[in-house]
Amino acid sequence: MKIVATLDELRPALDELRAGGKRVALVPTMGNLHEGHMRLIKNAREHADIVVASIFINPTQFGENEDLSGYPRTLEEDTKKLIAEGCHLLYTPTRPVMYPEPDLTRVSVDKITTLHCGASRPGHFVGVATIVLKFFNQVQPDCAVFGLKDFQQFTVLKTMVSNLFLPIKMIGVDTGRADDGLAHSSRNNYLTAREREQAPALYRILCNAKAAIEQGEHDLAKVTRTAKEALHNAGFTPDYFNISRRIDLEPATENDHELVILAAAFLGKARLIDNIQVDR
Ligand code: PAF
Repeated sequence: MKIVATLDELRPALDELRAGGKRVALVPTMGNLHEGHMRLIKNAREHADIVVASIFINPTQFGENEDLSGYPRTLEEDTKKLIAEGCHLLYTPTRPVMYPEPDLTRVSVDKITTLHCGASRPGHFVGVATIVLKFFNQVQPDCAVFGLKDFQQFTVLKTMVSNLFLPIKMIGVDTGRADDGLAHSSRNNYLTAREREQAPALYRILCNAKAAIEQGEHDLAKVTRTAKEALHNAGFTPDYFNISRRIDLEPATENDHELVILAAAFLGKARLIDNIQVDR
């Protein structure tokens, strides 16, 4: 696996890998790679000949009270994992490479970004859309692979790609989970041993809400209330638990059949997010 950190290195490396019309998949990450990321790399290999991963801890998607400086930096281990998974090129740009001065441009997707995580983390999705568009322009991949644990992020980015006519196929990969249901996430590192035992309750509660809707419960406010109470009882402080329609993540109405339940909740220092899709 080749490792590059500047645009001057990236361009010839990509030209060489692309020779003969090979298709390129991009997997953007912030590093601290876990099994969930490895699923993305595997998936990328199924969709393209060449897999490019990026590692960049993007400052513009962190809020003022969020711990950018404490975000885990594990480049050596990450590199080994990517090699083992068959990644072809790792791109690890620095901040000046991604945000050259004067740094005056941001990408903003309206509406969807004001809901759910966007309501709790103002400006977060502007940071995400901006950095991902920069990566898309630099790498010019045929497809890009993201985890569906961040369902809202995927919806925002799909909308950006569609609105801006970017010729990139967006691939969402189902959430990887531990045997007890906890979604793989870098945030799990913040959990104490006791919290790690409590954490799978988030997914269990999502599954229970899904089951209630599938069994015909129409009162979605009641399903939400029950779920939030269960989260409290399991030791969480819920941030949100929203039953939404899949298409635009607006609150689900009687007439919506393709739903997604999105949840975020604090457990100790960790803010865990997860979601589940429901068809009724
Ligand atoms: O999902 C992430 O890890 C980040 O939000 C992303 C897409 C790499 C942008 O920094």
